[in-house]
Amino acid sequence: MASVNSFVLAPIGELHLPRSAGPAKGASMNQTRRVAEAGVAVREGRIEAVADAETILKEFGDLPRIDAANSLVTPGLVDCHTHISWAGNRADEFIRRCRGASYEQIAKEGGGIAASALAMERAEPSSLVENLLERCNLLMSLGTTTIEVKASYGLSPESSRKEVDAVAEAATQAKPTVVATYMGAHAYPSGLPRSEYLSLLEREMIPYASKHTRFNDVFCEVGAFTVDESRKVLEWGLVCGLRPKIHSDEFNALGGTEMAVSMGAVSCDHLLKVTESGINALASSNTIAVTMPGTAFYLDKPYADARKLIDAGCAVALGSDYNPGSSQIPSMAFAMGLAVSRMGMTPEEALSAATVNAAAAINEDVGSLKVGERADICVWPCKRIEELIYEFAFIKPIAVFAKGDRVV
Ligand code: NIG
Ligand code: FE
Repeated sequence: MASVNSFVLAPIGELHLPRSAGPAKGASMNQTRRVAEAGVAVREGRIEAVADAETILKEFGDLPRIDAANSLVTPGLVDCHTHISWAGNRADEFIRRCRGASYEQIAKEGGGIAASALAMERAEPSSLVENLLERCNLLMSLGTTTIEVKASYGLSPESSRKEVDAVAEAATQAKPTVVATYMGAHAYPSGLPRSEYLSLLEREMIPYASKHTRFNDVFCEVGAFTVDESRKVLEWGLVCGLRPKIHSDEFNALGGTEMAVSMGAVSCDHLLKVTESGINALASSNTIAVTMPGTAFYLDKPYADARKLIDAGCAVALGSDYNPGSSQIPSMAFAMGLAVSRMGMTPEEALSAATVNAAAAINEDVGSLKVGERADICVWPCKRIEELIYEFAFIKPIAVFAKGDRVV
């Protein structure tokens, strides 16, 4: 009798996997494995075996079979950086930006993150959870089976608690795996001295969030948190057991990347303006360099130099940065297409970046389809990764499995 979430996927036209589990650094990002006529066996939501189709069909004849003879199969994609717990929208701000106002200018006038913070303050908890689940479903339909979610718009103790609770609740209900990050240090709320907000973060907000989240993130940027403030925020998280992450070198290189690497940050994200010393720090560490070409595209800014990061030996990951202000772009396939067409990555590097490296950026052991791994798998309506990249603007998987459950 076949058990739940158990099946074989065979034959597979082309199975394309990163070289191995764990992050791929530098040149190894390009060394992926393409296996023709492959098969995968899944038992009770876990990968049981990966081999040639014939062996899989012979050994696991008791399991239901799904045919993928004409398809590319990859691990489920991992989105290691999103801000999908937002309320309302910022469409008018986007149109203003299209007419020439800058992201920084809009923020200075009380728009931007502050506008989303106000919407968060007013939001009903139930609608926050509903929105989150809808966005998780959207991402899943696009092939993302693991989603990092930042609680990043609640900028008062009450609003922050409401947001953290909503993310925690959505994580228990969502079909994809949700990994929660706390980011109370996203912006300073208006009408409060900086020192008072920092003290709230230290004494109330980070300790509360640490009960429901895995990482602590900070926006180290002109107009947001200085390098010294960022270091303090990350230290307060460490005291509560939260590993550091940072938004660094997005619009200005302040030294946040170097500081975060020296603290053992799990990732440094954005890096549009990363310097030589930032690149060297990342290359000689275990910190993942997260690039998000969707943000550069959406803000019409120069892209992060992924080529230089990889050539220097960094482990580069991709994220969507899906959020209401700087990236209304939910698709990781779109990020992979931009990575290849605008940031100089190869299709193989983009695959490593969107699977094992993105997983390493959120401490998840997934993205390689190794035996025992959570069975998160995508079946694509094309034959090779080159075709997926070529069709990046609209491609969606024809089947998605999350923990062995067919969810698309
Ligand atoms: O990752 N850079 C800072 N934070 C977000 C944008 C958030 C927003 O504009 O609402 C980002 O791009
Ligand atoms: Fe972000």
